[in-house]
Amino acid sequence: MSVPSEPADSSQPAVATAVPPGHAVVAREKQIPENGNEIISLWPTTIICGALLLLAGFILDYGGDHLSYGSLFREGYVRRTPPGSVATPLPPKTALEAYMARGKKVFEGKCITCHGPDAKGNGSTYPSLVGSAWANGETERFAMIILNGLQGKISNGRIYGVMPPQGIGMTPEELAGIMTYVRNYFGNTKGDVITSEMAKAAMKISAARKNAGQSVTAEELTADHVKALPGNPVDATTLVDPLTLEPVQAAAATAPAKAPVPGAAVAPAASPAPKTP
Ligand code: HEC
Repeated sequence: MSVPSEPADSSQPAVATAVPPGHAVVAREKQIPENGNEIISLWPTTIICGALLLLAGFILDYGGDHLSYGSLFREGYVRRTPPGSVATPLPPKTALEAYMARGKKVFEGKCITCHGPDAKGNGSTYPSLVGSAWANGETERFAMIILNGLQGKISNGRIYGVMPPQGIGMTPEELAGIMTYVRNYFGNTKGDVITSEMAKAAMKISAARKNAGQSVTAEELTADHVKALPGNPVDATTLVDPLTLEPVQAAAATAPAKAPVPGAAVAPAASPAPKTP
């Protein structure tokens, strides 16, 4: 503790030299210098620690995605096989599952900010994709909207604003994924899979548009794009490689029988329980 009336530090050496070092007086009178390491009393410590604990709890509880494993874990991350060991391919998934998984990522990265986590929009500036005639309709029209953005009237005849193009940097697999996802999620139940082959075709069609570089309009969509994208349809239950999205049936058939291939199709509901009389 410092005594307010104490003289400045410069006077201390004088005192020290007046009395021989180690003298009892020195030991008794020696002041503990304040160096910032003094013990502070218990009450402030308790209060500060308590407040910090509360704050930490609050952050953990309301931290949202920042602290969740889901946001740290990279979906689609493939661990390299150590040299000398045999690479085990990821178990195949049904085409619908695999494309949907890819689409979910695209939706969360690109569409969710405007169309919302439930794809229902906000009713005023962003339209709903649930039950949308253009999202669920002809695939070429839907693809043109995603790749180029949209302005003017939408499928329900209303104008919400301008949707900026979303195709920049998008791979065919991602375009195929997002289209498949929107058509089969959020209450949409088209049941079809838009393949990467179809998405590639869409990208070519988009690049060849007369108004390339501008958002599409209802007029252009109706005049030029009410079509199904070319490409071989793939059955939703076809097994594909979850990374390349390429069918793996041939490989799976020749591979030695291992574990049963998971979830080839949604299992039909078990036969109804016999009625008890
Ligand atoms: C920056 C905001 C924004 C983003 C991001 C966005 N959209 Fe849009 N979207 C809009 C707006 C605004 C409209 C309405 C445009 C209009 O009024 O002409 C719209 C319209 C649509 C429509 C037309 C709906 C109909 O029924 O006619 C579809 C389909 C669509 N968006 C799909 C998507 C998909 C898929 C993604 C993600 C790849 C996406 N949008 C990303 C803002 C956005």
